[in-house]
Amino acid sequence: MKSISIRPLLVFGLNLVFNLDTVHAYVGSGPDQKPLTPISSALGPPYQGIVDHPLHPPRIVYAQLDSDRDDMNTNTTELLKGMVPTAIHISGNNKERFDLMFFSDGYTIDEYYKFEEDVRILRDDIVSNNGSMGHVADLLNIWATFIPSKYSGIGTHDKLLPGSVLGLYRPGSELRAVYVKHPKIARSACKWFKDGKAGEGGCDQAILLGNDPLYGGLGGEFTIITASKLNGPQILRHELGHSLIPVGEEYDGGFVYEGVNSDKVESLENLSWKDYLSDPDHIRIEDAKMAVQAYPWHDLDKEPYNIPFSSFNLQNDTNRPYPTALLRTSLSSIPYSSHIDFILNGISIDLSAHFPQELEGSHDRRWLDLPLLDGLKKGENVIKVKLTEKGQNAEAGQGGKMITSLEVVEYGGGGRFNDTKGNIGAYPTFDLTGRMTLRPTNEECLMRNVTHPNFCPVCADQLRQSLLRKIAGK
Ligand SMILES: *[C@@H]1O[C@H](CO)[C@@H](O)[C@H](O)[C@H]1NC(C)=O
Ligand SMILES: *[C@@H]1O[C@H](CO)[C@@H](O)[C@H](O)[C@H]1NC(C)=O
Ligand SMILES: *[C@@H]1O[C@H](CO)[C@@H](O)[C@H](O)[C@H]1NC(C)=O
Ligand SMILES: *[C@@H]1O[C@H](CO)[C@@H](O)[C@H](O)[C@H]1NC(C)=O
Ligand SMILES: *[C@@H]1O[C@H](CO)[C@@H](O)[C@H](O)[C@H]1NC(C)=O
Ligand SMILES: *[C@@H]1O[C@H](CO)[C@@H](O)[C@H](O)[C@H]1NC(C)=O
Repeated sequence: MKSISIRPLLVFGLNLVFNLDTVHAYVGSGPDQKPLTPISSALGPPYQGIVDHPLHPPRIVYAQLDSDRDDMNTNTTELLKGMVPTAIHISGNNKERFDLMFFSDGYTIDEYYKFEEDVRILRDDIVSNNGSMGHVADLLNIWATFIPSKYSGIGTHDKLLPGSVLGLYRPGSELRAVYVKHPKIARSACKWFKDGKAGEGGCDQAILLGNDPLYGGLGGEFTIITASKLNGPQILRHELGHSLIPVGEEYDGGFVYEGVNSDKVESLENLSWKDYLSDPDHIRIEDAKMAVQAYPWHDLDKEPYNIPFSSFNLQNDTNRPYPTALLRTSLSSIPYSSHIDFILNGISIDLSAHFPQELEGSHDRRWLDLPLLDGLKKGENVIKVKLTEKGQNAEAGQGGKMITSLEVVEYGGGGRFNDTKGNIGAYPTFDLTGRMTLRPTNEECLMRNVTHPNFCPVCADQLRQSLLRKIAGK
């Protein structure tokens, strides 16, 4: 490990002066969308550069936001000169590699080793042999630069922690977006390395790592993540997929479906991934339906959550064309399955198998995929979610005891939906308005299933092609 020079940084960190406007930004709304804490009041008026998503971290092109604004009144020379990169994964000369650079925020000087350890865990997740980017480990360099903060942690409710150099903060209390108050500092720090001013290191993509143990992040110009053991790696891989391949979403309920993993229904006979199809002579759209999708961000301490919806098994169907289904949901601050009751049409779903041992007691945001092997009943269905007595009595963690998202996908019976692992075909994805696009695999891409550790073969190959192009253009 290299020694680091921190003195000039520290002096700098305590003496920043900023001058920020406060205005409101755009918040998307979907079916049954409760108003969320408005996107940071520090980001400026609705800009083209913001792609909000009610489920996952939004993406922001900060360069578009602040190119004509002076959001910082400071001299960064001392900071930049004081930065010392630590090599985390080096595969070659940085002219011929793509450089990822981690910058710390919310780590005190005493937490230098924690930062390094956090970065190493993230590195292992992405470039280990079985990691999401293991197959391009030979094209990547990974660096880490420690920028100490005065206080440990990140801000909430739009407030920065004093003396935080990059100024990572949550706009509200929810475990959702994390913004950077000082994008120009982050940008000039990245550029410093990109321009070779530090003598070593490189920065083709900046990753701002906030020292907070719970879910949060942002995509776009900067990939922002937290040190959440569970969610940090998941957000990092997903957001790097957006930035590096680049691709849009594969999960339902968003509004950006583009790139190599998405095609129009009309293109079924000429899919952009046609060379990958498992059975190119019998191409069809797999028969799945979206019965409900909601992003309630609902505080269960206030009241139970109740959502009625209709099945695609119609009341007048003689049989049930969609005999099975999947309930996919996310929760925050629910540490044990015994704290919550999910009731489908009056019958509780057993959640115990879906609260893994390693997440026992965790208040972090968590994802549950609950197979509904008997599917939905014909016509109207209702899901009710409430805290049990234990859940009510437990103390709430950051963000409150929330159901943050819920969706039910119904699968066609009689072989009309192929859920065989490894199958590459044409699977339907439904956007915020219910419009259908197609994707290559069922649940085998982390751009859809965020708990899945890998890209589908189409995205994985394109990631390699894209990095080669980016390197050739350096
Ligand atoms: C910034 O600080 C450096 C050294 O502290 C100094 O040399 C330089 O002139 C300053 N730049 C401006 C624009 O004040
Ligand atoms: C890779 O494999 C190791 C050892 O089997 C395992 O501990 C780790 O969680 C795996 N990583 C991913 C990203 O799947
Ligand atoms: C198939 O799609 C490609 C682009 O992906 C396009 O260039 C080509 O013209 C299309 N072929 C047909 C027959 O539509
Ligand atoms: C079944 O009900 C739906 C509306 O729920 C209606 O659109 C459809 O025509 C009905 N089909 C038959 C065969 O009655
Ligand atoms: C489902 O996919 C698998 C793997 O590609 C394939 O072997 C099988 O024939 C497919 N089943 C149907 C019904 O198409
Ligand atoms: C999502 O991926 C995880 C990890 O690979 C897997 O356990 C889970 O079953 C997947 N979800 C679905 C609905 O297939």
